[in-house]
Amino acid sequence: MNLKPTRLRMCGNWVLDRFPLAQVWNEHMAHYYAPKNFNFWYFFGSLALLVLVNQFVTGILLTMNYKPDAKFAFDSVEYIMRDVNWGWLVRYMHSTGASAFFIVVYLHMFRGLLYGSFKQPRELIWIFGMLLFVALMAEAFMGYLLPWGQMSYWGAQVIISLFSAIPVIGDDLALWIRGDYVISDATLNRFFAFHVIAVPLVLVLLVFMHIVALHEVGSNNPDGIDIKKSKDPWGHPVDGIPFHPYYTVKDVVGVAVFLIFFATIIFYMPEMGGYFLEHANFIPADPMKTPEHIAPVWYFTPFYSILRAIPDKFAGVIGMGGSIVVLFLLPWLDRGKVKSIRYRGGIYKKALMLFVVSFIALGYLGTQPVTPLATIMARIFTAYYFGFFLLMPIYTRWEKLKPVPSHLTTQPTLEERIPDMIAVFNEVIETKSVTTEEGTTELKKHFNPTGAKNVLIRTAKNLKESLD
Ligand code: HEM
Repeated sequence: MNLKPTRLRMCGNWVLDRFPLAQVWNEHMAHYYAPKNFNFWYFFGSLALLVLVNQFVTGILLTMNYKPDAKFAFDSVEYIMRDVNWGWLVRYMHSTGASAFFIVVYLHMFRGLLYGSFKQPRELIWIFGMLLFVALMAEAFMGYLLPWGQMSYWGAQVIISLFSAIPVIGDDLALWIRGDYVISDATLNRFFAFHVIAVPLVLVLLVFMHIVALHEVGSNNPDGIDIKKSKDPWGHPVDGIPFHPYYTVKDVVGVAVFLIFFATIIFYMPEMGGYFLEHANFIPADPMKTPEHIAPVWYFTPFYSILRAIPDKFAGVIGMGGSIVVLFLLPWLDRGKVKSIRYRGGIYKKALMLFVVSFIALGYLGTQPVTPLATIMARIFTAYYFGFFLLMPIYTRWEKLKPVPSHLTTQPTLEERIPDMIAVFNEVIETKSVTTEEGTTELKKHFNPTGAKNVLIRTAKNLKESLD
């Protein structure tokens, strides 16, 4: 009876004597001390990893039936959707996964802006992150050509033709990228090669370097405090806890919630009203017929809006490229002395809030046809986008800061917030005793406008205080 486990253990030991698995596990999981106060915003790194794995698994399965040939590509996708067992599910998991990737990565980047995770000593983590972002955009762009629908074809046509705006070498460069004078089978083949092998390899390498760089300096946290400064007699940070089991278990909760949303989209709204899978892409690519309104998928639209907002084509390309380059420079543009938004002055908080508004507005405008008003709006938001970054060295240097505590602060948990939430509910929904027609008295709940007004005024005051 005892034979089996002992044999297994012996096998395990045989491997461990020859491979530093236990050492790697301890260094990066069981003995990796992470700050105690990771919050909601810290779910998105592990979710990005999850989505990456989803894209790999579903991508490999799709490749088994997809044909990278201009004559058969569109039909092979329809074949996957209709005839391959579970093909529709695999394809929707992959297409929804692409959008989910960008949602998760945008929120992950926003966390960096909230808590100054890009600041010294984490500049390199940010740079690897930005390289990941660029690789991810390349991966998504090339993947979008593969279904060979109208939007695949014309989207690629518009974006590749942008290269021809570059003086002197532009036309040759565009020709070199396409491998033909128009988007054709040659383009499809090379995009396929990049999408299924070259860029995924780069992504994996960059994720590895991103995590190695993170584990070298340690994770930041919502207070932006260096937890390595105060250690217990055993040399462990007093404000830290081992990543495993504490955060592996916590991340499972994030994964479960994410999967609920992910599955809901896959099963009930995989096209997401044309945002995740554009309607025009259900029509086979036709080089002789341009669609009425060409728009990239939603995750590119903020940058596409910047391109369209600038009247000159070449200047537009520079503007669009610049909007991404400027993100690389963030660690050196921000001169603030504290990391976390909790201890920054009001200027950064307001500037960040307006930046989020501008980014979303640019994203929306990029999905819409051009009108004079939309162009003016896009120009205003583009100016703000660049202003946020380029004026950062000035406004972050002079802002008034709040004192930073020496240890992590504890925030009320959801359970601790429940009494406050009940109090707000009771203020907005009032219980009154009402006499019925039969003469009996009953307790009835009513909406209380005065209570709602008080709650709104209090919330606005609190928000203003937190911004000052
Ligand atoms: C494939 C895409 C990516 C994956 C799989 C990924 C994965 C991760 C993971 C697992 C962590 C540690 C857990 C956490 O802090 O949430 C992390 C941290 C971090 N990531 Fe990423 N990441 C990706 C893209 C990016 C991008 C695009 C940026 C920004 C440009 C970025 C910036 C950071 C920063 C600054 C940290 C440290 C955060 C801190 O300690 O507060 N990452 N990433």
